[in-house]
Amino acid sequence: MSGRQPIAFAVNGRAVTVTAEPATRLSDVLREELALTGTKVGCEAGDCGACTVLLDGTQVCACLVPVAQVAGRAVQTVEGLAGDPATRRLQESFHRHNAAQCGMCTPGMLMAAADLLRRQPDPDERQVEDALAGVLCRCTGYRAIVRAVLDAGSATRPVAPAAGRAVGAALPKVDGMAKVAGTEIYGADAAPEGALWLRAVRSPHARARFTIGALEGLHARFPGLVRVLTAGDVPGRNGFGIYPQIKDQPVLADGVVRHRGEAVAALVGDPATIRALRDSDVPVAWEPLDPVVGIDGGLAEGAPPVQEDRPGNILTRGRLQRGDPDAALAAAAHVAEAHMQTRAVEHAYIEPEAGWARRAGERLELFVTTQSPYMDRDETAAILGIEPERVRIIPSACGGGFGGKLDLSVQPLLAVAAWLLDRPVRWVYTRPESMMSTTKRHPARMTGRAACDAEGRLTAYDFSGDFDTGAYASWGPTVADRVPIHASGPYRVANVRAVTRAVLTNMAPSGAFRGFGVPQCALVHEALMDALAAKCAIDPLQFRLINALRPGDAISTGHVLDASAGQVPCLAALRERWHDWRAAADAFNLDDKSVRRGVGVGSVWYGCGNTSMSNPSTMHLGLDPDGTVTLYSGAVDIGEGANTVLVQIAADALGVPAAALRYVMGDTDLTADAGKTSGSRQTYVSGRAAQRAGEDLRAQLLRLTNAGAQAAIELASGRVIVRDGDAVHRIDLRDMPRDRRGDVLSGAGTFDPPTSPLDGNGQGKPYGTFGFGAQIALVEVDMALGRVAVLGVAAAHDVGRAINPAQLEGQIHGGIAQGLGYALMEEYVPGRTENLHDYLIPTVGDLPPIEVMLIEEPEPTGPYGAKGIGEHSLIPTAPAILGGIAHATGVRLTEVPATPARVRAALRANGHV
Ligand code: FES
Ligand code: FES
Repeated sequence: MSGRQPIAFAVNGRAVTVTAEPATRLSDVLREELALTGTKVGCEAGDCGACTVLLDGTQVCACLVPVAQVAGRAVQTVEGLAGDPATRRLQESFHRHNAAQCGMCTPGMLMAAADLLRRQPDPDERQVEDALAGVLCRCTGYRAIVRAVLDAGSATRPVAPAAGRAVGAALPKVDGMAKVAGTEIYGADAAPEGALWLRAVRSPHARARFTIGALEGLHARFPGLVRVLTAGDVPGRNGFGIYPQIKDQPVLADGVVRHRGEAVAALVGDPATIRALRDSDVPVAWEPLDPVVGIDGGLAEGAPPVQEDRPGNILTRGRLQRGDPDAALAAAAHVAEAHMQTRAVEHAYIEPEAGWARRAGERLELFVTTQSPYMDRDETAAILGIEPERVRIIPSACGGGFGGKLDLSVQPLLAVAAWLLDRPVRWVYTRPESMMSTTKRHPARMTGRAACDAEGRLTAYDFSGDFDTGAYASWGPTVADRVPIHASGPYRVANVRAVTRAVLTNMAPSGAFRGFGVPQCALVHEALMDALAAKCAIDPLQFRLINALRPGDAISTGHVLDASAGQVPCLAALRERWHDWRAAADAFNLDDKSVRRGVGVGSVWYGCGNTSMSNPSTMHLGLDPDGTVTLYSGAVDIGEGANTVLVQIAADALGVPAAALRYVMGDTDLTADAGKTSGSRQTYVSGRAAQRAGEDLRAQLLRLTNAGAQAAIELASGRVIVRDGDAVHRIDLRDMPRDRRGDVLSGAGTFDPPTSPLDGNGQGKPYGTFGFGAQIALVEVDMALGRVAVLGVAAAHDVGRAINPAQLEGQIHGGIAQGLGYALMEEYVPGRTENLHDYLIPTVGDLPPIEVMLIEEPEPTGPYGAKGIGEHSLIPTAPAILGGIAHATGVRLTEVPATPARVRAALRANGHV
């Protein structure tokens, strides 16, 4: 069958007829023809399940169903769930249980669960896991989703906290109902009427020279092709990057490509034409060159420079030295050495990069999925050659970021196309395009030595690590700087040396990924703690307790921790579980089974915010003439819950119920710069700014009424009532002058964490505060097959103050899921694992029960004592799993992911197989 045909079917009980090519994906028809954008698309290959809908009551991937196959049948999408009381309760249960973080997988999860609940109204946990097995979630760690499905029969409603009670409450997400209803708008869900489509022509080679031939023939063959953009079309600077002094990544490559997937041209035209055009239609003449592969390739004698002005391929070096580690190593009672190799890891957020741009007179508007609106604004403006204020970034809902959406993706080319053509342009990355062209976790090769005295007290730590930073700088310098500080772990050690190098290669750029290099170096410090504990014949957890940083201790940079250093309470909280699990595993192994169990422990410390530099956030809280309070937050919520947590903080600071606040997120015309959503900084930095904004607005209201500090504030229609003891004051808002946002009063708050620059030895105060934590993992190793299953994780994290325990638990579950993937299965190989079929991320069946223990050691500079958690939760998971494998088998893996093949090889090398 071919040619557009009318096809009639029912959607959510409504009869529809669409005219489409019979082979058109049902997902496209739902989204583009019927505006049912609640059905999400993450891969178009049947791998992610985001597009799951019900077809005649059974779950299917809408991306795999040709629309012709639904003729005469009934389709149900997430938009249809609210009409049925049972499925509406399912949605409410997802909301109540915090089962939607970024929300991108949520419609698919809900549809899969709805399918199950219709067949089996009272399922058990295994049945729920089986039903959800086809839908991937990258944020939640699945446990909250399973819990929500099991509790779907309950009609419980969350209780909204009263004024002054929001901080500490497990408030469901303020944007949660939109996520479960499928009404949240992500980067691919909207575009101006008549928008052109864009797609990039990308290099199939890791390193090559190229020329683009005459394009007239292409235009003649494809009349719907409006414009082909090449490097010469970039009106401003054809280069962007994170750092003011490094703008090395081109918008479009100019005669040379440095990694597979680099864009060399952009095709802009009507949707059918852009879909029909193949890369091979574009006259590109390639001259492939031998690529620089891996750290060894980059450092090899005579290696070609990846970037011409950086001979030797060293992008940057990091260094820290404190005390005399060589002397301390020489004098130590025990010395241990560890080596570790890690591989490239893909963020694999379920929402591919997407957005649209349009020119509005002499300004440009860009609607985009992002973690850093103000950086997007400034970089896009430089690319266009205009002032930053002439670019407006409007962040969409973000379907997962984890650091991968800190760098520019669709922004530059959308901006150039819309600017030059003066027509709206949209773009959605395909999954392979997303995977081959965006940043990765740095592959690392690391060596460490640590020493202790006879009582098990650490005396020296010596670390060196090389990080494959790929073709462009991205966040490489940040990784090279952050790792030396964190390399020795959350331990008291007087003599430390840590050196790093970021090595340029012909890989996609390595960038920011939940931890900035610390998940790599943590594998080394935790292997060393286990090794030294064994040499001292001290229990591994006890060894960590002996050496854990405490308030009053100096850290590796010489800075003395004065408060909120909760490593000891975290380890202590795990102690009972640790001994029980270890004893049970040892008992299990007595029978010398083909399957053995072990328990490992991992510790983490992680500085919140940017390293040794100013990284302020400014928040505003506006009161409009109707008496509505709006939080203007430039902090983008990428699923972690910043919108909710900042509303809670601001509401308590103002003294009104959190439910009374609305919020505006990230729009650069309406919100001030809150910095990037990275470095686990939004709760800590923007949270403190939101607290100050709330306090400022409250102070203004109290001043206007001469009320005392304890007065109660009540919002009413068109006025504010201030009750101060027996006195009642009213502020009439309607006639007050309005500011540019339409508010009559506005509170402002700014916070910049107290840091200092580091000296040449890495000494100083790099962060305003650190988060601490530890996790233990119970694993089971199949001694014949090398397969590792994680059977349980217990996690204790010092969060300063738990602003929202539900959001914190969600972050910890999600971090553990990503840590598990990093430890056991995730490895990005260009050209081989560029989709979610070959690149494995954990599914619902991979996640064990997780026990979360929140430790509260208040941080004096944080909002109500709070600090960050986003990255901390991932870092100790892989060390704990590797420790568990070592406990089970006696073999310490030196490479992750610990795939069955690698585990088997290690077991064989140690005489086990
Ligand atoms: S979009 Fe259909 S399975 Fe991923
Ligand atoms: S909440 Fe599942 S992918 Fe983000």
